[in-house]
Formats: sequence, structure tokens, C-alpha cells
Amino acid sequence: MKAYRAALLRFDQHGAPVHDDDALLVVGPDACGAQVVRAAGAYAQLAPNYPGLAIEHLPGRLLAPGFIDLHVHFPQTDVIGSPAEGLLPWLENYTFPHESRFADPAYAQDVAQVFLDELLRHGVTTALTFATSHPASVDALMGAAQRRGLRLIGGKVLQDRHSPDGVRDDTEQSLIDTEALIARWHGQGRLGYAITPRFAPSSSDAQLRGAGELAARYPDVWIQSHVAENKDEVAWARQLFPDARSYLAVYEGFGLLRERAVYAHCIHFDDDDRRLMKATGAAAAVSPSSNLFLGSGFFDFEAADRIGFQYGLASDVGGGTSFSPFHTMLAAYYVGREGQTKPGVSLRPGHLWWMHTAGAARALGLEGVVGNLQPGCEADFLVLNPQATPLLARKARQARNLDERLFSLIVLGDDRVVERVVVNGRPAGGATYNAAPGETP
Ligand code: GUN
Ligand code: ZN
Repeated sequence: MKAYRAALLRFDQHGAPVHDDDALLVVGPDACGAQVVRAAGAYAQLAPNYPGLAIEHLPGRLLAPGFIDLHVHFPQTDVIGSPAEGLLPWLENYTFPHESRFADPAYAQDVAQVFLDELLRHGVTTALTFATSHPASVDALMGAAQRRGLRLIGGKVLQDRHSPDGVRDDTEQSLIDTEALIARWHGQGRLGYAITPRFAPSSSDAQLRGAGELAARYPDVWIQSHVAENKDEVAWARQLFPDARSYLAVYEGFGLLRERAVYAHCIHFDDDDRRLMKATGAAAAVSPSSNLFLGSGFFDFEAADRIGFQYGLASDVGGGTSFSPFHTMLAAYYVGREGQTKPGVSLRPGHLWWMHTAGAARALGLEGVVGNLQPGCEADFLVLNPQATPLLARKARQARNLDERLFSLIVLGDDRVVERVVVNGRPAGGATYNAAPGETP
């Protein structure tokens, strides 16, 4: 067992932040040998229960759950910052040509390493990830994640129409490949598979039907796709599926809305769509930096909460502009201010943080597994330095309460704050960290 003494952030069962200024976090193996949180809480209360246990004291540091990125494209690591009029020209001019390079397994393996380094450097320990339509891109990603012991979920993109040569797949083969990849990777250690139709406009009815059949056959496999991101995309979906009540309803018709189904964006929804999300248990991956960059629109937090469907935060790199959860939380704050119902909402910092940790875990059906530091959770956590920059240090000294502390990190923080990343109880390997002087990560 190993123990850490520092300030600690975690979440209660209602999603409210719980903060201890001086806490003890005890990590050790569970009955299956996984490294989990054995105890977490006030130091003075817990320490007497662990006489003789070596405790690493981290004064001035904040222990927090590893972040969860609910929607990201590993092959778009190098697409970040590609400007376009909107989603559809961005896909055509930058994304599809770039993704065609992943037909080369060696290239996919190189980018998978860079991608995982970036996730970890920014404190992201779990991600729901698109690969490309090439099955070898999934092998590259999963193999690299497995070697690092990461809890990562990913899948081969399905796109058998309205896609150029180089990324377009074959309907029947794509479904055979998906099933083979489920058998190869789903449930291997900490890895999970996600059935991944890119979006309804780029899949034939037959491919969507096949994806839905696989989703029914493998109920604990995830589903990921995009919906209602951009007005031109919504109009195109309406034209392609004239019988569906809405774009979201297309997915319902093919059996692709259920628990463990995560849909990126969910911006141009009406309340019937929101009720459908709630009724089916599907979740939204809110991707605010992407939505601002591509001019897609603003997720309506107020309407989502009024109806009560699940959502969490996502980078959506490379439509998104940063791997940093701090940048994503700040972008979510800006988007909340816009809202669709003026004057919008002022999202609380604890709620923003929850959406990127315990809330995202709940959206994935992994509540109590990752995204929190309650006893029993897997030991994926961060050592954060709230004084990593001169301005942050000033703000930290002046903060009067938890909201002020968290807000200064959300607004001013980035990878410099992430001093150490612990994955499954061990310092994460392969990345470079902002280690304190004299400390080996
Ligand atoms: N819709 C279909 N494909 C994509 C993609 O790669 N990124 C985003 N943001 N939206 C999409
Ligand atoms: Zn996306």
C-alpha cells in the first residue's frame, strides 16, 4: 500500500465536490490485484488507522481524479488548428485526407504514442476515442494504451459512403472487422471497445443496421458517434433520412441509442431529442472548444439539466483546440454563458470539474470505477500544483474558498499544473511531466 498526504478533491454521490485541505489518500490492491483507492479523507481522522505506513507528504499540492475525455480523435492529433468555414469543409479539406494516412500501421503507431503522451501530460487518464476506418489504427491505439496500463475505450470508424477513397470502408467487411476488434480488445485488461459509426450521413442504412445489431449482441460494448453538431450537417441528415423525426431519431431507428452510447455535440436538439436521450440512457459528449473553433453552436446546459439527460466534457481534438481539460472546462464556461436561453448560465467550477471526471465516468457507465477518488475507485489520479505559475500562485494565496481555488485553475491552468500522473497506482510512463525539482516522475 502507498499513501499520499495533500489537499484532496473528490465528488459525493450527487456530484458535489468534496474538498479536504489536509487529506490522506491510501492506495493498494483490491481482491483482483487492481490498484484502487482504499481510503480517502481528512488526514487527522484516517492516519491513525495506518500505523507504520509510509506516507508521501506533498505540501501545497492538490490530489484530484484523472480527467476523462469523453470524445477525442487520436488520428486528429495533427489536425488541431485547421481552420474552415464549418464542419463539412473541415472534414473534406483537412480531416479525411489526414486520416487516410492511417492506412499505414507504422504511422498509426507513431501517432498513437504521441497522442497518449499528450493525454497523460495534460492529466487525462481515460478517453473515449475514435480511431480511423483502418482496423490497424485500433490495434496501434489499443496496443499502446495496454502497454501503459490505461483505461481507454476506442473503435474503428464506420464510414461506407460520402467519404473519399482512402477512408471509405466496405459495408460488410467493416462489420466483420468491428466484431473481430471487439473480440481482440474489449475487456482486455482495462481496455474497452466502442462501435463507431462516424455520423449518420457517412454510413449506409446497411452499415447502421449492422452496427445496431452488434450493439445489441454486445451490450457492454460502447457506441460513439456524432449528432446535431452543425446546421448544414443537420440539414443533410434530414435530406438523407426523410422518414426520421430528427437526426437523433435516425440512430434510434437503427438501435444505436442505449446506455453506453455517447454522442458528440448534441447542440441542435429540441426537447423531444433531449427526452429521447434521457429515455434511452445515451449521453452527450459536450465539446465546447471544438464548437467554438468550428462555429458549430452552443450546447444548451440549461435545457439538458431541465430534461435530465447525461453529459460530460470532451476535447474533440482535432476539431477541439486543446488536449487540456483546463482549456475545455473554460470553453464550457464560455459556452454556458451563451446558452440558448439568454442570459445563459454561470456554471460552477465544481460542476465543470465534475463534468470532466465523475460526471464523464457516469456517462460511460463507469461510475465508481474511474473519475473519482472514493474508496474502491481505480487509482488513476493527479498531483496538481496550484502554484505552477506566478499568477496562479498569487491567486492561490488569495483564494477564500473552494470555488475560487478551482476557478483560478480552470481559467489560468494548463499542463504546467499537472505535476504527476498516477495510472493504476503507478506513475504514468512514457510522457514527460512537470516534475518538481529533484523529483523523478
Ligand atoms: N462529424 C463527423 N466526423 C467528425 C469529426 O471527425 N469531427 C467532428 N467534430 N465532427 C464530425
Ligand atoms: Zn468528434
